[in-house]
Amino acid sequence: MRIIKTKDYDDMSRKAANVISAVMTEKPNCVLGLATGSSPIGTYKNLIERCANGDIDFSQVTTVNLDEYKGLDHENDQSYYYFMRENLFKHVNIDMNNTNVPNGMEPDAEKACEAYNEIIHSVGQIDLQLLGIGHDGHIGFNEPADYFPKETHCVDLTETTINANARFFATKEDVPTQAYTMGIQTIMSAKKVLMVASGADKADIIAQAFFGPVTPQVPASILQFHPDFILVADEAALSKVNL
Ligand code: GLP
Repeated sequence: MRIIKTKDYDDMSRKAANVISAVMTEKPNCVLGLATGSSPIGTYKNLIERCANGDIDFSQVTTVNLDEYKGLDHENDQSYYYFMRENLFKHVNIDMNNTNVPNGMEPDAEKACEAYNEIIHSVGQIDLQLLGIGHDGHIGFNEPADYFPKETHCVDLTETTINANARFFATKEDVPTQAYTMGIQTIMSAKKVLMVASGADKADIIAQAFFGPVTPQVPASILQFHPDFILVADEAALSKVNL
């Protein structure tokens, strides 16, 4: 595990974009595992600028996203498909046919998860998986549990997660209670894993996840065992650990 401490969110975003750009430069047809949430937005802005400058090229890149709310369609501004289109895809030269997000509109969870697993298997090894972290230690939507789920599955979101995400919806009742998410085994199979974390509200969970025991009760803690895990976090998010 390597930790890159940054001054603030902007600094974190630039440094995370450096890591992603390096992978894209080395392997133009790489597979990127992508994440949503407020943490990676700045990273995506940096990638958009670099693409506009001609420094990186998305034309041969394939993407697989971590998760999607169950029941939200592509045009719902809270769906993760919409997030990816608005915050990255429509601003870069990616072929939309090479972008993948779980199908939130498939009501049959088994079908939706099986279909996404097939996509994941067909694209081959993920070269870089980008992650944020939830306040309860979730990655993707892998919530605290008694075991580490392997592949794509349907989750009941925890109260903490629903409350944290309520800020994006008109009312708390509008927040979906279920989601489809890539499993921990898939995330751990990525060649490189890059997490971005920012802000004092993430300090406790960062300390627990990466300086505490590895346990499915803190899903992100498993990343301590990944052979190439990089945490890019700002001073505030690292304020509860001694580096
Ligand atoms: C959601 C997403 C996660 C994300 C988390 C934290 O629950 N499913 O992938 O990491 O939120 O979001 P933020 O970066 O806004 O704190």
